[in-house]
Amino acid sequence: MCETQTEQFLWINMEEKKILCVGLVCLDIINVVDKYPEEDTDSRCLSQRWQRGGNASNSCTVLSLLGASCAFMGSLSAGPVADFILEDFKKFHIDVSLVSEHAQCVLPASVVVSNISTGSRTILHMNRNLPDVTAEDFSKVDLRQFSWIHWEGRNAEEQVKMIQQVMMYNSTLPQQQRITVSVEIEKTREPLYQLFPHGDVVFISKDVARHFGFLSAEAALKGLYSRVKPGAVLVCAWAEKGADALGPDGLLLHSDAFPPKTLVDTLGAGDTFNSAVIFTLSNGGSLQEALTFGCRVAGRKCGFHGYDGIAGKFDD
Ligand code: ADP
Ligand code: FRU
Repeated sequence: MCETQTEQFLWINMEEKKILCVGLVCLDIINVVDKYPEEDTDSRCLSQRWQRGGNASNSCTVLSLLGASCAFMGSLSAGPVADFILEDFKKFHIDVSLVSEHAQCVLPASVVVSNISTGSRTILHMNRNLPDVTAEDFSKVDLRQFSWIHWEGRNAEEQVKMIQQVMMYNSTLPQQQRITVSVEIEKTREPLYQLFPHGDVVFISKDVARHFGFLSAEAALKGLYSRVKPGAVLVCAWAEKGADALGPDGLLLHSDAFPPKTLVDTLGAGDTFNSAVIFTLSNGGSLQEALTFGCRVAGRKCGFHGYDGIAGKFDD
């Protein structure tokens, strides 16, 4: 095979590979209101709907809508709600072959109050006993099908072991065939901070930034960059202020937010942003392109309920 044929072969091979998101799937029971209810009152909401939720699951939805092949790895219970969730994964062409069923467990659920007057989403989450994916579960995965694996920070100790398995796998391969690892540190839980040095791309939330005493994305990135591994990229989204990123060249990048005409629903804006960044980087885009696209897609998402309206041309 001549060199160009080899390159072409590798390219096709990479094209067929999927993006895997590991983390939570749950049921979101979304109550749309135009005024946040007062405690101990009885009022009607404008509408109510069930939606498949959970960060990793939402990220898969957006990746799929953007045109990436993707897979979800997480736990699910059994029964009608789990069936609703599986049907919805199917509707979005998300590979669920790595979902493990725990028939005796209760499916996690969130009650969400989504206020169309402000776009705010107030989440009350319940997770009684559904176990997270373990390093042992992960050791059975055929890593050859993936070009990128994203972990939503949850059972961090196990997740570090999973990432180490990927590092072992990568060490046997040439650079262009290696799996890129991203991690999301969204919640302000101490054990999650051990994930910092394990991602090629590390997403932190403004809650985490604030938890460390930083009042802006820029300050957080500069203050926390020493925690990531050499060569890694640290990304921090900050709602209506957009998002910033810092890579190994020390250049701080920024994108403004792209607010929709009317702010309607910010539920999953962060998951949407992460997916659009991953999508761009995994297609060879620059970090600046990824940040800008992340903010564009997340901004568009805030203008309607759910995720279906994300697809389509981005010239707005
Ligand atoms: P989360 O959903 O995790 O709270 P953020 O609030 O940080 O996520 O938002 C992620 C991205 O979504 C932001 O970088 C921004 O691009 C977009 N976004 C979120 N809220 C707004 C908003 N009110 N107006 C415009 N864009 C927004
Ligand atoms: C949005 C989300 C919801 C879910 C909640 C869990 O980012 O994933 O879909 O109910 O967060 O914390």
